[in-house]
Amino acid sequence: MATATHTDTGSHTDTGSHTDTDTPALTVAKIGGRIGAEIGGVRLGGDLPDADVAGIRAALLAHKVVFFRNQEHLDEASHEAFAERLGAPVAHPTVPSADGRYALGIDSHHGARANQWHTDVTFVPAYPAFSILRAVTIPPYGGDTLWANTATAYAGLPEPLRALADGLRAVHSNEYDYAALRPDALPEALAQYREVFTSTTFLTEHPVVRVHPETGERTLLLGNFVQRIQGFTGRDSRALLDLLQAHIESPENTVRWQWQPGDVAIWDNRATQHYGVDDSDDHERTLRRVTVDGDVPVGPDGAPSRLISPETVPDPSFGIPSGASTSDTPAV
Ligand SMILES: [Fe+2]
Repeated sequence: MATATHTDTGSHTDTGSHTDTDTPALTVAKIGGRIGAEIGGVRLGGDLPDADVAGIRAALLAHKVVFFRNQEHLDEASHEAFAERLGAPVAHPTVPSADGRYALGIDSHHGARANQWHTDVTFVPAYPAFSILRAVTIPPYGGDTLWANTATAYAGLPEPLRALADGLRAVHSNEYDYAALRPDALPEALAQYREVFTSTTFLTEHPVVRVHPETGERTLLLGNFVQRIQGFTGRDSRALLDLLQAHIESPENTVRWQWQPGDVAIWDNRATQHYGVDDSDDHERTLRRVTVDGDVPVGPDGAPSRLISPETVPDPSFGIPSGASTSDTPAV
């Protein structure tokens, strides 16, 4: 486990090892009780000093989501080069990226809006460990993003509910009802997005409680890609999902970020859910996301996640397959 570099007082803590007095040291300041910190004193890029990368990673594991202001210098290439300092970038399994590389466009005028609580890409077994989101065009109002801490959500459950959750497995899929999510979208736009996003339909069984591979914390692994909990009727499954998800979404368990152009957010996708608030009317909102490869989750009993269909995760159009950088064994 990486060493946490924060203080619980919310005060700034120097963690960098700079000796050059012209370069401010990396600072970490909590912005919420259970989740979120703002990092200052760094200019993100592929050439970041090792000590700063280590400081960012430690803050990320401790606070689950970290924010940076004033990173306007980043473009697609340097965004990706910075991502490589945290791990191997991976392409989305089905959605083509904005420029044919790793950076996925999050655009209010195209595709689905993310106004559902979710963890990124949980419909495959080795879903991303980290997501790095960069603000390009921000609307004059609205369009905030919320994150929730799925480790504190688990820890805060009553003991009998934790014991129940420990034994549950849930099926995640990228096929769900887009029309219900986007009642205002044109039918052609919905059909086009559905065709791309679900060009391959994935079904993956994950443990409902994931043991975090770096911190050892237990986290709740749910979100809007979940279809059902194994072994329960539809009605019981829904009731259980709603019960557990409510602990994740509790306001005290979340942090909300108001974007400015040039902002960057990085989250530990293994310990969070997030929600893009869809309240900026028709104003343009454009962000770019690069995801870093993750490994196959395991539950408290050590049982790994399992791909149900298709038989294997197809190789992306470029780059490494999902989970290739962190796992020696194929997803089973
Ligand atoms: Fe997302």
